[in-house]
Order: sequence, then structure tokens, then C-alpha cells
Amino acid sequence: MGQYNWINGKDFDINCFFLMDRWMLNMIFSKYEKTDIDDFHRIDVTLATLIKQSPRLQWFIMRKAPELRKSIENLVKGADPKLTGKKLRLREIELMEEMETDVVYTKPKIMVSSCNYITAWDEETLYGLVDLHDKVVLDLGAGTGRLTFAAAKRAKRVYASEPVDMLREHMRDKIRLENIQNVKVLDGIVMNIPYEDDTFDVVLSGHVVGEDTDAEVKEMTRVAKDGGKIVVCNGDDDIKRDEPSADLIRLGFKVHYHKSSLGGDIYNYTKTVKK
Ligand SMILES: C[S@@+](CC[C@H](N)C(=O)[O-])C[C@H]1O[C@@H](n2cnc3c(N)ncnc32)[C@H](O)[C@@H]1O
Repeated sequence: MGQYNWINGKDFDINCFFLMDRWMLNMIFSKYEKTDIDDFHRIDVTLATLIKQSPRLQWFIMRKAPELRKSIENLVKGADPKLTGKKLRLREIELMEEMETDVVYTKPKIMVSSCNYITAWDEETLYGLVDLHDKVVLDLGAGTGRLTFAAAKRAKRVYASEPVDMLREHMRDKIRLENIQNVKVLDGIVMNIPYEDDTFDVVLSGHVVGEDTDAEVKEMTRVAKDGGKIVVCNGDDDIKRDEPSADLIRLGFKVHYHKSSLGGDIYNYTKTVKK
């Protein structure tokens, strides 16, 4: 079972990797360039075996992301030839669940209906953190658009930046289907936001900041206007958390706490930008 229990592994198989773009493939496979196969864990062996048995998938990954050639060549050396048939399918299901936070992006509809941080979240939480009326807003790492579409009900315009192609297309489908007029979707990562300085009244994110918090907040500050707001608005889950992010507090964010309906301790953060 995966850490968050977002998916049933039986709904996925290794073919979902054909739906991944270059950015995601790099996130998953680049580490295998330097990992010794003697250090492989059970899930690495499963992945190696599945990739070895699918020459088409090897072809796809190496064409889509040529920089991964060495990683894939090294990975498949760790394949287990004894792993076949039903035994391999059971290991594949286990792998899909272990990799839930990656594979779920290949089926955005499952993400919207199964990820508890999305389903249990109430958009009033966002409205309580920041005034969005008539504002120009950026949502970084927008995912399926939890924050984007909530913000769009009040803001003048919302720009949803998202590095995963399947998620961008999911948001574009929703915009078309619901004839939403004030949302634009584009590519982009938090460390390199595709906008000029001083562009936004509000910069939103949820479950995105944290890998290199100082640099990420610096980049968010760059694109925010003087006097604008940076808001970290996470979803509602069941995770017990002892304390808020020390990094965000050090960087001047105000902390907002509530207990989620699922029992999790939810910390959100706001900061007014001063330039
Ligand atoms: C757990 S999801 C959260 C989605 C959405 N923000 C929400 O809270 O509903 C994390 C999202 O961040 C995106 N992401 C991951 N790393 C990122 C990065 N370095 N820059 C921008 N987005 C990133 C992922 O593609 C994914 O859509």
C-alpha cells in the first residue's frame, strides 16, 4: 500500500509511463544513472524488470528524454529474470501503489476523485486566507486546479503553472467544458517561473514548496508585486503534524492552523511582499 493510499494499484500498470513527459521521466529515472544495482530495493528491481520486458517503453523513454539513456541502461541490469507472469503483476501493482504520487498524475480524474487532500478541502479555506477580488493570481504547481479554479471564482484572472502535461490538459479540458473565461494554463517549475518580475497580486501554491524553500520563496517573491501576497494553501488530509514549517516562519510567513475533517493538522501560510 502507498504512503497516502490515493490509488488502487490494480487501476494502473507500467504502460502509464507512456503518458509521462520529459520532466516526470527525469524525476523518476535520473537517479538510476549513479545507483549501484547491488543497492536496489525491491521496487527498483520490479521497475527494472518491467522496463526490461518492454522494449517499446525503453524506446519511448530514451527518445522522449535522451539524457536518460545511461540511467535506463543501468536500471535494466537490475532486472530479475525469474520475475514473470502473475508474480510480476502482483509486484507491478505494489510498485504502482509505492509510486502513487507519480503515477496518479497520469490519470487526473482519479486524482480529483481519490486524493483526500483535494476531496476533503473546502475552498472557503482559501478565501479566508487572502482577498482575491479583482486580483491577478498565479497558482504554482497547480495540479488538477484545486486552488486555480477556486481562485477563479473571485479573481480577475488566474494563471495556472504546472510542469506535468497530463495535468495541464486536464485543466484545459475543464476550462473548455465549463467555459471558464479567466484561467490560463501554462508550463513551468517553481524555481524558474515563466513570468516577468512584479507581475502578480497573489502567488498561490499548495504541496509544492519545500525542496529548497529559500530559493523557491525568492522566485515567488520576484514575480509578486510590491504589497502582493504569497499564500501556501495546502489541502485537507489526515496527516498528524507536530509543528508548522520552521523555514517558512523564518522567511516571514504568518501561520494559519486548522484541524481537517479527516483529522489532519493543516498548516497554511501567508506573507505580504515588501520590495
Ligand atoms: C501534490 S500535487 C498538488 C497540486 C495542487 N497544487 C494542489 O494543491 O491541489 C503537487 C503538484 O506540484 C507539481 N510540482 C512538483 N514539483 C514542482 C516544481 N518543482 N515546480 C512546480 N510544480 C511542481 C506537480 O506536478 C503537482 O501537480
